[in-house]
Amino acid sequence: MNIEKNFSLKKYNTFGIDVSARYFSKFNTVTELEECLRFNQPSTFNLQSQTLILGGGSNILFTKDVDGLVLKNELKGIELIKEDADHVYLKAAAGENWHSFVEYCIQKNLAGVENLSLIPGNVGASPMQNIGAYGVEIKDVFHSLEAFHIADKKIVEFGLADCEFGYRESVFKEKYKNQFIITSVTYKLNKQPQFHVSYGAIQQELDTMGIKDLSIANIAAAVIRIRSSKLPDPAAIGNAGSFFKNPEIENERFFQLKNDFPSIVGHDLNNGKTKLAAGWLIEQCGWKGYRKGDAGCHAKQALVLVNYGQAKGNEIYDLSTDIIASVKEKFAVALQREVNIIL
Ligand code: FAD
Ligand code: EPU
Repeated sequence: MNIEKNFSLKKYNTFGIDVSARYFSKFNTVTELEECLRFNQPSTFNLQSQTLILGGGSNILFTKDVDGLVLKNELKGIELIKEDADHVYLKAAAGENWHSFVEYCIQKNLAGVENLSLIPGNVGASPMQNIGAYGVEIKDVFHSLEAFHIADKKIVEFGLADCEFGYRESVFKEKYKNQFIITSVTYKLNKQPQFHVSYGAIQQELDTMGIKDLSIANIAAAVIRIRSSKLPDPAAIGNAGSFFKNPEIENERFFQLKNDFPSIVGHDLNNGKTKLAAGWLIEQCGWKGYRKGDAGCHAKQALVLVNYGQAKGNEIYDLSTDIIASVKEKFAVALQREVNIIL
């Protein structure tokens, strides 16, 4: 365990916000994690403040320095747990890079995660908000996870129902916020692929690529091309993907809005609700391509807020507050932030 003091987090969050952690350490094993947590006891260093777990830092916005201990998860390893006629169960340590895990599955011809290609971040955060893209969510391939309970100092296992997965939600995001540290996730991969190509522009992209034979590798390649064409690469422009969730509203309300704004984009959820495209709402309010200082709204995807270089976390946060207010005023729709805000 090597605890650093006043450590810059700029390279550890994809927004590239320049804040520091009072204390910072990486952990490579659960034993090291326990040592780090012991360090953060009030009696040891008179430090009675927050412990924050960091994966790839791709879904987090720091608005100020962290007066506590930031722990970077470096747990590594992928293990085959069991196999039956239809499935292979892989247990991945929480510090594994998510996209590398997807590539690993594709190489082994294991299906289920190909639509989730190129999502930044680590395995450990994948259940946190039930990551999703192009018609697939983590819950579709999730089997179980192990998490260290900070107060009880023991590992607890969570099954699918325990996680209470929803759209960009799980028990870890709100109900048990900051109580558990996910140490590994076990995924149930399919030996026989079920291709998901109906969502978004996947089929169109496959046609453009001249691909007629479907395979998980081809779907991954199409998803990667679509994502690269519209989402900013954090290595070039700081961002955390979609800053807001797509709001879900009653169908009746959607039909009223459709009457007033015929080009509004919504997707029927078949449960009496419609999911609105927040990017459309934000664009209609005139924010797309907006920039004030180094904080902005991406020119190709209005749902993504960006840091062009030196923006402070507060400037991004204030911009998000202004966007919420204008969408509320124009459409009477409440946007919710999707990114984890560290206030
Ligand atoms: P971090 O940002 O490090 O952490 C996120 C939150 O989880 C924090 O609150 C942190 O404390 C907590 N956390 C992290 N690890 C653990 C752990 N082991 N145990 C407990 N808590 C933990 N998301 C999608 O769902 N779909 C997308 O299509 C998508 N596209 C994106 C595109 C871009 C360009 C970017 C930058 C982001 C995108 N995201 C997307 C968001 C992000 O990639 C995911 O939310 C990802 O799972 C975050 O992983 P991370 O390791 O970087 O988490
Ligand atoms: N749109 C606009 N203007 C914009 C952006 C979008 O009008 O500036 C409209 C378009 O009509 C477009 C529709 O919104 O067809 C949907 O846009 P897109 O396909 O880009 O997807 P999204 O709804 O903006 C969601 C997820 C993404 C995920 C993609 C693909 C959320 C909050 N975001 O974005 O996830 O990759 O779908 O499945 O659900 C993330 O969570 O960080 C993320 C990037």
